Amino acid sequence: MPHVLIVDNDAAVREALLGICAAEGFSCVAAGTLREAQIQIMRHRPVVVLAELTLPDGSGIDLFNEIDARAGTHIILLTAQASLESALDALRLGATDYLIKPINYLRIKTLLAKVARHGDLHVDLPRVRSTSQRLGHFGQMLGASPVMQKLYSHIERVAPTEATVFLLGESGTGKELAAQTIHDLSLRQKAPFLPVNCGAISPQLIESEIFGHEKGSFTGAEKQHKGYFERANGGTLFLDEITEMPVELQVKLLRVLETGSFMRIGANQELDTDVRVIAASNRDPEQAIHEGRLRLDLYHRLNVFPLLIAPLRDRAADVELLAQSFLDELNATHATNKFFTEESLLSLSQYHWPGNVRELRNYVQRAFILSDRSIDADAMAPALTRHAPTGLTLEIPVGTSLAEVDRKLIFATLEMCGGVKKRVADVLGISLKTLYNRLEEYGACHVDTEGN
Ligand SMILES: Nc1ncnc2c1ncn2[C@@H]1O[C@H](COP(=O)(O)OP(=O)(O)OP(=O)(O)O)[C@@H](O)[C@H]1O
Ligand SMILES: [Mg+2]
Repeated sequence: MPHVLIVDNDAAVREALLGICAAEGFSCVAAGTLREAQIQIMRHRPVVVLAELTLPDGSGIDLFNEIDARAGTHIILLTAQASLESALDALRLGATDYLIKPINYLRIKTLLAKVARHGDLHVDLPRVRSTSQRLGHFGQMLGASPVMQKLYSHIERVAPTEATVFLLGESGTGKELAAQTIHDLSLRQKAPFLPVNCGAISPQLIESEIFGHEKGSFTGAEKQHKGYFERANGGTLFLDEITEMPVELQVKLLRVLETGSFMRIGANQELDTDVRVIAASNRDPEQAIHEGRLRLDLYHRLNVFPLLIAPLRDRAADVELLAQSFLDELNATHATNKFFTEESLLSLSQYHWPGNVRELRNYVQRAFILSDRSIDADAMAPALTRHAPTGLTLEIPVGTSLAEVDRKLIFATLEMCGGVKKRVADVLGISLKTLYNRLEEYGACHVDTEGN
């Protein structure tokens, strides 16, 4: 019978964990101190160790001296106070997971069930690592600059664990791509990856979209609807623009993260969910907390493993590689042989790319269309040859309907801002939600994912 060791100085936590482990068919013992745990490890070789980080006589991390995490023992660390340093330490040493208290017991149950089924939880990654070092890419993510190399190594650490990740970075830096990469490198890779843009769903609908609803639970609820948490079961839910989620809903999200269960609107029964959450924001979360847009308790839950994605201007050395790769893709699709001139590559790497990689991708696409064979700096005009894309004008014939003016202005501003919706909303003086609503009306929802 596989053996589990539980290490926590809180008797109630030990009791609860012993119950879960026994129910999952493991033999188990509990220890209250590091010393007791060391003795237990010498007696039996546990398959799983569930250990609190803060113990009366040391840290749960010290148990890595006793156990070789890579030789098949899973160490899951528990903590009331997460910090990036301890999370990184734990994952660097090979911890399987790093959980915040109050413990989501359902998650432990799921982890144990996976160990019982597969025997192993670790994903073999050496191939990805060596390719990334050689070719300047990591999965679908491109870039060889030091900041990207560091990001790849952090993603590599955190992906195969169950830890919640919080991606921070300006619009268009590749947060969704990073989230997808984390999912692809995890044991959840065969289950769904569902991206949800919290800023794009109206506040009236978002609760039902995320948690689902029962038939007749509100006017218009004509049939039962399964929310994202249900549809992502076994997989990963990517909550983009988390600071745009209504605060009341953040309370409910926190509850799911803590307990692993939720209720559809209008239901009276809880549903269990096994979903890994990755959140993202292009705002400064501390500022969002200060403004009352993001709950502090939710932030602590999400921020187990924060990953910062650098703006493109801080990795200018990657611009050429990215541009060339986008061009290669277009050449392959259209069976063409277009190329950048030296001069155009230089102007690309000198531009400051406020819309980041998305803006670069859009520019390459436009330059590709506008050029016959060689792509020179002129094809990139006007925005690239100026530092800020100001002074663009829109010609509107008298007699145009206001709705059409609205549409044209929105699309022109989108282009001027390199597809960065937050900036478009600021420039036009409308809320981000209004912008999304309009784009949806114009049938331009693909702007969300492609940014075009
Ligand atoms: N490192 C990268 N390598 C290749 N393509 C990238 C990279 N980073 C971003 N992209 C591409 O740039 C576009 C924007 O990326 P993504 O949607 O992931 O950004 P984002 O940070 O989620 O933006 P937003 O905050 O606006 O939602 C996508 O087409 C994506 O494929
Ligand atoms: Mg995004």
